[in-house]
Amino acid sequence: MGEHPRGARQAVVVGGSRGIGRAIVRRLVTDGLDVLATGRSPDALGALRGGLVDDGLSVRTAVVDATDEEATAALAEAEPEVDVLVYNAGTSSAAPLQRTSVDVWRREVDVNATGAFLALRAFVPGMVARGHGRAVVVASTAGLSGSPYVSAYAAAKHAAVGLVRAVAAEVAGRGVTVNAVCPHFVRTDMTAATLERIEAATGRDADEARAELERSSRLGRLLEPDEVADAVAYLVSDLTVAVNGHALVLDGGGHW
Ligand SMILES: NC(=O)c1ccc[n+]([C@@H]2O[C@H](COP(=O)([O-])OP(=O)(O)OC[C@H]3O[C@@H](n4cnc5c(N)ncnc54)[C@H](OP(=O)(O)O)[C@@H]3O)[C@@H](O)[C@H]2O)c1
Repeated sequence: MGEHPRGARQAVVVGGSRGIGRAIVRRLVTDGLDVLATGRSPDALGALRGGLVDDGLSVRTAVVDATDEEATAALAEAEPEVDVLVYNAGTSSAAPLQRTSVDVWRREVDVNATGAFLALRAFVPGMVARGHGRAVVVASTAGLSGSPYVSAYAAAKHAAVGLVRAVAAEVAGRGVTVNAVCPHFVRTDMTAATLERIEAATGRDADEARAELERSSRLGRLLEPDEVADAVAYLVSDLTVAVNGHALVLDGGGHW
């Protein structure tokens, strides 16, 4: 996309306060983008701002629930010239199929898939109209294959990947790309909660539970949030004119 006519490229990171989102925000700010990060918790967004200020950097923040259609549309109206959209908001839970409630199913689909739809629908048309833009959805290896006890999460992430592929086809050739990143387990609060669930369900201790997750990746370890941020930084760069509709797997080389 080259040099932005107004100077810094404008980015919105939906769900940017903690974990992978925080690493993405820090990476994009360091790369010189003007970033607005959203989340539900004002405290988490405050901590994000504080951490960046300590390093002489800055980020704008807004409290927005990614599943709120009106709030997402209002955000796009307030930020009319966004070059880069990253949809990172997500939630996960685990239970056997028969113990997965409709409420859990709906929450997983709302946050992981419907929110991505709302964000792409709000921001991508403006990118197409301006003839340039990058959108990335943080999905998961669970968006490409099934595994036990994550029916709602896997279905929601498959929906997110399908959404990316369809929108990418729709905007192809018009200066806009839409891609997904599909990490395996990453060292964040979400994975800490997964480890606690494994410990509670199996009686394993923390080291054993962590070793089980590490063995499930060909890397043999958890990913770091910065490794996901590096992939996102590539996909939103001007190196990816021809990279559109991909689901970039981050796991060291698995078969998904
Ligand atoms: N951790 C992993 O192993 C892993 C692997 C593959 C993919 N992923 C995906 O990567 C993304 C980030 O995961 P993470 O591990 O960093 O999770 P995390 O530590 O739980 O952080 C989730 C982030 O999303 C925000 N968020 C959640 N629900 C939201 C909502 N309704 N509206 C706005 N923001 C919301 C959270 O902020 P608030 O709570 O303040 O709203 C927080 O900033 C998710 O999409 C997840 O599914 C994670």
